[in-house]
Amino acid sequence: SKNAGGSANLNFEQRKWEDELIRAGLPSFGSKDKKEKDSRKTYDYVLDEEIQFVKALTKPGINEILKQKEKHSDYEDEHKKKYRSLQDVRKTLPIYKLRDELMKAIRDHQVLIIEGETGSGKTTQIPQYLFEDGYCVGEDDNLDDEEDSNDNNEDGEKKKKEDKKMMIACTQPRRVAAMSVAARVAEEMNVKLGREVGYTIRFEDCTSDRTIIKYMTDGMLLREFLSEPDLASYSVLIIDEAHERTLHTDVLFGLVKDIARFRPKLKLLISSATLDADKFSQFFDDAPIFRIPGRRYPVDIFYTKAPEPDYIDAAVVTVLQIHVTQPSGDILVFLTGQEEIETANEMLLERTRRLGSKIRELIILPIYSTLPSEMQIKIFEPAPFGARKVILATNIAETSLTIDGIHYVIDPGFCKQKSYNARSGMEQLTITPISKASADQRAGRAGRVAPGKCFRLYTTWAYQHELDDNTIPEIQRTNLGNVVLLLKSLGIHDLVHFDYMDAPPFETLKLAFEQLYALGALNHKAELTKLGRRMAEFPLDPMLSKTILASETYKCSAEILTIVAMLSVNNSIFFRPKDKILLADTARQGFFVPGGDHLTLLNVYNQWKDINYSTQWCYENFIQFRSMNRARQIRDQLEGLMERVEIEIESNPTESIGIRKAITSGFFYHTAKFSKNGLYKTVRHQQSVLIHPNSCLFEQIPRYVIYFELVLTTKEYMRQVIEIENQWLLEVAPHFYKTKKLDEDNSVKKLPKKLGKTKEELERNY
Ligand code: CDP
Ligand code: MG
Repeated sequence: SKNAGGSANLNFEQRKWEDELIRAGLPSFGSKDKKEKDSRKTYDYVLDEEIQFVKALTKPGINEILKQKEKHSDYEDEHKKKYRSLQDVRKTLPIYKLRDELMKAIRDHQVLIIEGETGSGKTTQIPQYLFEDGYCVGEDDNLDDEEDSNDNNEDGEKKKKEDKKMMIACTQPRRVAAMSVAARVAEEMNVKLGREVGYTIRFEDCTSDRTIIKYMTDGMLLREFLSEPDLASYSVLIIDEAHERTLHTDVLFGLVKDIARFRPKLKLLISSATLDADKFSQFFDDAPIFRIPGRRYPVDIFYTKAPEPDYIDAAVVTVLQIHVTQPSGDILVFLTGQEEIETANEMLLERTRRLGSKIRELIILPIYSTLPSEMQIKIFEPAPFGARKVILATNIAETSLTIDGIHYVIDPGFCKQKSYNARSGMEQLTITPISKASADQRAGRAGRVAPGKCFRLYTTWAYQHELDDNTIPEIQRTNLGNVVLLLKSLGIHDLVHFDYMDAPPFETLKLAFEQLYALGALNHKAELTKLGRRMAEFPLDPMLSKTILASETYKCSAEILTIVAMLSVNNSIFFRPKDKILLADTARQGFFVPGGDHLTLLNVYNQWKDINYSTQWCYENFIQFRSMNRARQIRDQLEGLMERVEIEIESNPTESIGIRKAITSGFFYHTAKFSKNGLYKTVRHQQSVLIHPNSCLFEQIPRYVIYFELVLTTKEYMRQVIEIENQWLLEVAPHFYKTKKLDEDNSVKKLPKKLGKTKEELERNY
């Protein structure tokens, strides 16, 4: 019926959700049906022994304390009040009770493994404790060494002490986590973010000379080794979220273990959520494990009765079902990426709008890595009275970020994961089932403040039989080119016997050597060349670094920097709203220039720059302003690095051939040749690929093209493509292509024997 309002509508909707839920195989929450009980499992999470204590310190309690305080100090301003309340909150964290024991353990041992439930305070508190206990004051013996007898007055002494400050580094696998945690700690310490407490992530440095607590991505600490091989400015290194086992964290393990040996005063803390502690301990020569007992409440786990074909829809239905039938408490939904989050967001907005005031307010908050920071802060703000928050998050909320007040978790059971095919050299992001360990982490998010519920949108059987126990470490499923280049630059030559916690597959290592050899970064003995050393200066994929260095030859460094920056923005530059697709596509096509997509990107950037980086212009031309801003920021950072490789910034905007030759110098590995029926074949592996329909070359079908990346959707597509001439390949990569055979299928040269065919050969040679 079309009745506009009244409760009939709501009932209908409600029933509809029930229907959908039954279809989705979800238990309906009110019912006491026996069958449903069977599909439900209660986890024996440790119940906190001190519920009373915690209850006394939950938010209403704090408000009481604050009110008392207010009476006594009328003049206390908002800011101070907030600071006080933050200090009180700090004392409620599980780690607080163990502060003294933890600090003693750190004093007594050089390396300590710290294991604790997410939200216990590891990331935010440990660096502060270390600071409070004087770990940021410079090492005394160094001070003595440099003491100047002439300069004995107090001021000089004081100044020296300040100069001699030491830093505490805390690594995070994710950018958003580094930023958000730094912001939180700055607030807790009542300092401005970027001064005493700061963060560094790729292309963004929010620190200063005064910084003593530095949160950084693991990749940034890795790069720090290039400028300071013994990391002498740091007194403590915290490798946080170690259980994530990202590529950079794994490589850090080997490096920090090494420097700890010759820097006895350095403290090394390896901190992880749960599970892997013993493995970490073994790797770090049986370092002791410090366990922070968890405060976990029981979490009821629900499974679907049948596999769910559309998990986004099922998640949305479940959110609404919880919202309407369950007592207060926020909801956390795990999705795989920005696109899914935006879809779910739209669906929820649409459905709640239809219901209007018939339901309580539902505040929908997305969180993913490229979300601007002012939006990120919102997820930590408590929902207003009567309203409920639903947080749509990627894996980041699994352990990296703790959001208080979550009572319900919805877990579709998937995440986006990189996989790598060492034979074809193809790296792919695919939506993959999570591991059991991840599923349990996710469920645990519901039981942090009170007993909770977790709705798994998969069956009990799937949990038991289809999920792996643990996630495979990234080092075993990614391209190693970048890391090999970095390690070689650090003077580590033997990468086969490097101290890995889990070694990468031999094939992957070999392919990295081959690619770096082809790019000219390594010589035939796999030693770093001068070019390789310069390439390592850039925090980029080796192919992009090579492109930048090649721009010197073709006198177009300004243009190449712009192109590389535009390619490094993860998001699409072009905005395509669903209701204006035609207009948006026309606007996009208006930017097309001959030669290919890289030149189109350059054109967009230059027009934007000419109009003074205008927001309005972006809006009118269906360009994502945020992505453009990010490109600008990246470009500035890269330009700053050009001094180190001594390349002048030269502009030659009309030199289309030069620009494309520079790109070819970096990406000749990614050449594809037209074969037939719109199909291309990659020259290296004879793989069939297509030009992406969004490319400006889509309808032109040039004979030879170079692509930036391959994406697999329904077919294998080349994204960001330029047209090249085959003769350029000989010019830029004579050691890779055979002179006479450019037009034939076996145009690629064989690699020098010395690079090794088998593991034994490789081991013998290096
Ligand atoms: O690292 P771990 O998971 O052990 O905990 P944490 O990240 O140090 O978080 C400790 C507490 O700080 C949690 O209760 C968080 O909710 C809070 N926190 C916050 O309110 N805002 C942030 N940006 C980060 C943490
Ligand atoms: Mg943490």
